Amino acid sequence: MQLDGLRLPSPIEALGLHPSGVELYVKREDLIHSAFGGNKWRKLKYNLLEFQSGGYSHLVTFGGPFSNHIAAVAQACRVEKIPCVGLIRGTYVDEENPTLIAARQAGMQLIHITKEVYKQKEGSAEVRQILSELSRPFVVPEGGGNALGLKGCAEISDEIDAHGIAFDAVVVPAGTGTTAAGIIAASETETFVVNVLKNPSLVDVLTAQVPSDKQWQVVSDYHFGGFAKVNQVLVDFINACSVEYGFLLDPIYNGKGFYAALDMMGRGRFPQGAKVLYILTGGLQGIAAYNYRCKRDAMVIQV
Ligand SMILES: Cc1ncc(COP(=O)(O)O)c(C=O)c1O
Repeated sequence: MQLDGLRLPSPIEALGLHPSGVELYVKREDLIHSAFGGNKWRKLKYNLLEFQSGGYSHLVTFGGPFSNHIAAVAQACRVEKIPCVGLIRGTYVDEENPTLIAARQAGMQLIHITKEVYKQKEGSAEVRQILSELSRPFVVPEGGGNALGLKGCAEISDEIDAHGIAFDAVVVPAGTGTTAAGIIAASETETFVVNVLKNPSLVDVLTAQVPSDKQWQVVSDYHFGGFAKVNQVLVDFINACSVEYGFLLDPIYNGKGFYAALDMMGRGRFPQGAKVLYILTGGLQGIAAYNYRCKRDAMVIQV
């Protein structure tokens, strides 16, 4: 791969002692790369390598109109000069959508498909037709959630082990659970998986994907209503964290995940003296996408 300028291993920063007596750390996956860092890079790495070794013609993937995954795939493929196609959920085309403008400018061909077709993916005649028109397409599933994505996410735990601090707990936000499953599978540390999307099958997905001797639990109380639901408490928290800690939290995943980590500390969920590591999974383009849709000044995330 040609990709350079990647910051690996991603840095682990000490954020100091929380009033509960817990030592708080953050793994800055967002710093891996400005355009496709975070868990997006972890999930893409082995998919890109497979594309390059497999003699494929096009990388094809799926995502919603504000998807972090679409944004990251477009930028990584631009750097790697890989022809790519994004199949976008929904036929409404918003010419001002910042995620899709950037993806198109990066060279991704965007094809809008109906929500019904999107649900069926390769099961639909329409998607099969699109694929059949490409000479040798390589399909990366929505969000990069395949075995290659899982393998890349396991490297987060390898880096934590190599760093040398013995953490007592890891906290990570989850959507589909691929990132968390990769981390848990390669870790001996208890992992708290924050179900920020209110995904009803998260426990089942993790149970199916990680060895049974691993220690993990799903934390269910911090979804703020579910996918893309944001309230004033969350926005104020995100804006306060950017002043206090100097990093940005996206409102879909890390705002809720980091809120959960601090709230659990405040509630005594971790013993005094414990070392807790939060995995900041990136998603910064999600802030621009959120602010674009945000209608109230008080709810804007400061960047
Ligand atoms: C920034 C960010 N963090 C976390 C997640 C959740 O990852 P997963 O679907 O692997 O649980 C996503 C979605 O892929 C994301 O974009």
